Amino acid sequence: MSAILIEPDPVKMEQPALPHADPCVVVIFGSTGDLTKRKLMPALFDLCRLGCLEQVRILGIGRNAMSEDEYRKLVHEALANSDKVDELDEHVWQDFARRIHYTAGELEDEGMYQTISRRLEELAASGASRNRIFYLATPPSLFDEIVSGLGKAGLANEDDLWSRIVVEKPFGTDVDSAKALNASIRHVFQEHQVYRIDHYLGKDTVQNILVFRFGNTMFEPVWNRNYVDYVEITAAEGGGVGTRAGYYEEAGALRDMVANHLLQLLTLTAMEPPVAFDADSVREEKVQVLRSIRRMTPEQVAERTVRGQYGPGEIDGEKVVGYREEKSVKNDSETETYAAVEFRVSNWRWSGVPFYVRTGKRLGRNLTEIAVHFKPTPQALFARTPKEEIDPNIVALRIQPNEGITVTFGAKRPGFEMRTSTVQMDFCYQREFGMESPAAYEMLLLDVMRGDATLFIRADEAEAQWRLITPIIEAWSQQPPPDFPNYASGTDGPSAADDLLTRNGHRWRGLHESRAGCD
Ligand code: BG6
Repeated sequence: MSAILIEPDPVKMEQPALPHADPCVVVIFGSTGDLTKRKLMPALFDLCRLGCLEQVRILGIGRNAMSEDEYRKLVHEALANSDKVDELDEHVWQDFARRIHYTAGELEDEGMYQTISRRLEELAASGASRNRIFYLATPPSLFDEIVSGLGKAGLANEDDLWSRIVVEKPFGTDVDSAKALNASIRHVFQEHQVYRIDHYLGKDTVQNILVFRFGNTMFEPVWNRNYVDYVEITAAEGGGVGTRAGYYEEAGALRDMVANHLLQLLTLTAMEPPVAFDADSVREEKVQVLRSIRRMTPEQVAERTVRGQYGPGEIDGEKVVGYREEKSVKNDSETETYAAVEFRVSNWRWSGVPFYVRTGKRLGRNLTEIAVHFKPTPQALFARTPKEEIDPNIVALRIQPNEGITVTFGAKRPGFEMRTSTVQMDFCYQREFGMESPAAYEMLLLDVMRGDATLFIRADEAEAQWRLITPIIEAWSQQPPPDFPNYASGTDGPSAADDLLTRNGHRWRGLHESRAGCD
């Protein structure tokens, strides 16, 4: 049963004035790659359509020799094939195309960075800004090379301009490699110039976690161990590994999702109020949460983690193959496509409250959600109602799809008897605001162009994330999984993940149990 607190009466939102990017040139390394085609160009195109990129140019860097017109053609094709671009308006395209430039060369060649430097000077002579953003959209194996090349060519200097670098995840693959990557970046760029992207932070609903907690009086007083029983964080995907097996075979679900997106959701849920909403204050509090989580011993890893790999099954009535049958996956692969971990945040606010996170591919549905489970009432006052009929309150923050927030609570049923049920209040983003959220990459690219690092990962934060994940990777690598594949595609994941919670008297919400107001 569900109850809607406020009937949808869409708030007629006035469209806020659109922010403008500061003048700059966005230099993209990996400009013909997948990320550029699928995410960066569609995001830049949309920002251009919205009129946010008045004085912005784009300089693609790639290995393939081609003219600027040929590169523009390639970008045009990518936009035409992108599901992120609703309509490839010819007028907007003309405006976008004239901003696009291209330079070819080998990234391992030091001379290449002098070429880029000269190209930037030429663009400046033709009216472009001298500010620059270097976007590393290449495989991570090239990061060091590029950063050092930029340094040697003096491209990180900020004498009479600004220079920023954007680093895509993964920021390393464990603590040591994250430290090494940070050190090589630090050698050339100062921390205020570095923007490490975790695209989850660009989602409106993720930012709304902070507004929900710190923009309201009524939730924060109960947001602690006195009232909260446990917290569930789920990022379930119906899709499989797709065409990314090459990367995913090495990464697995733990590195791909838990080490970054899920830990980010956890820090935002658990952090203390920052002194101000600025980059350092917010990031400082997030790092404190990560520092409060103890690293697991191998015994704790065995107790508090579960890994899984999907077998064949059915999704939306269609048969799908198991992970080991996917293209470019080894037929005895031990890569996990599912991971569940119980984290303990050992600080004053959260001592004793488990934070369970889970993520997986080929699960029963797409669902990303944080569910905060409150403790049961101390007394079953409504004696004729079996206690189980009033479930403890749950506040669920739905990140995607059908973004919103639900709160469950007990209510009296209509009738002569004192009988109760659990009902639900819903807030649905789309219904309330009547407009779509911008894509995460648009939000984040605009922030880089405006110099706001609040939604980016700080160096120590990246290392602190790996500090928690590395012991799990190490313990798992010592013990090959005995039972892969251990969940069928289209289900809620391996049954061992249920046991992880039931031993503490808790349970996951079924993936189909979560019901948002606009589902
Ligand atoms: C990426 C992972 O970072 O996030 C992918 O590499 C995953 O494996 C994706 O599918 C999920 O992002 P979103 O925005 O679709 O939830």
